[in-house]
Amino acid sequence: MNVGADQQPRQARHVAIIMDGNGRWAQQRGLPRVFGHRQGADAVREVVKAAPDLGIRYLTLFAFSSENWCRPRDEVVELMGLLRRYLRKEVAELNANGVRLRAIGDRSRLDRDILDLINHAEALTAGNDTLDLMIALNYGAKNELVDACRALAHEVAEGKIDPSAIDADLLTARLQTADIPDPDLIIRTSGEQRLSNFLLWQAAYSELMFVDTLWPDFTAGDLSAAVGEYRRRDRRYGAVVG
Ligand code: FPP
Repeated sequence: MNVGADQQPRQARHVAIIMDGNGRWAQQRGLPRVFGHRQGADAVREVVKAAPDLGIRYLTLFAFSSENWCRPRDEVVELMGLLRRYLRKEVAELNANGVRLRAIGDRSRLDRDILDLINHAEALTAGNDTLDLMIALNYGAKNELVDACRALAHEVAEGKIDPSAIDADLLTARLQTADIPDPDLIIRTSGEQRLSNFLLWQAAYSELMFVDTLWPDFTAGDLSAAVGEYRRRDRRYGAVVG
């Protein structure tokens, strides 16, 4: 059975991106790393704008990992500043374009004003359905899975569920991405080939694409090329083509 056969033409509905290479982009130009992040934020704008026309319905961007706090303080401050600016300046336009914005990740370490901006953006855009944009912030897949397991354990302890009833669906329903389909395609820029604790559970059957382009150079054309290559790939979900 070819599970993907009824999906012709194959469309990447959920694309997730590990936006890597900002630092190297800046270094190549003899600039401080923060310049790469600034240019990277422009690439975010371009890709978000282009996504719906490419048939993308869900877009998840890895903006800040739970490990990124270990970077030099000025770099963390710059990344949070870019996020602040994005949330302050772009949300009205995102809303006008039918984008629903959500953050995934552990919010407990985020500054109060960023939390307020996220809450405002999520409430304002909740009814939109052109594109679901998930920004992964202080996100780590292992933490997300641990939290989901802990939630299940509490429910077992409270007698709400029987341990034998726990299956993949029950765990999936306790992830932050519970109501979002798994990514069809995960793209990582800059030539690195790893998932770096990004959507580990959700990536079980995702197509992985590693492109050499550094994130600040990534364009709508690159996204279109990735979606085109996805269309040509054969997804079998463990089955055999008949
Ligand atoms: C990885 O490049 C990139 C990041 C850790 C941050 C990504 C952030 C942005 C693109 C801008 C802000 C986001 C939004 C949503 C406005 P790296 O610094 O690890 O690059 P390197 O591997 O070359 O050092």
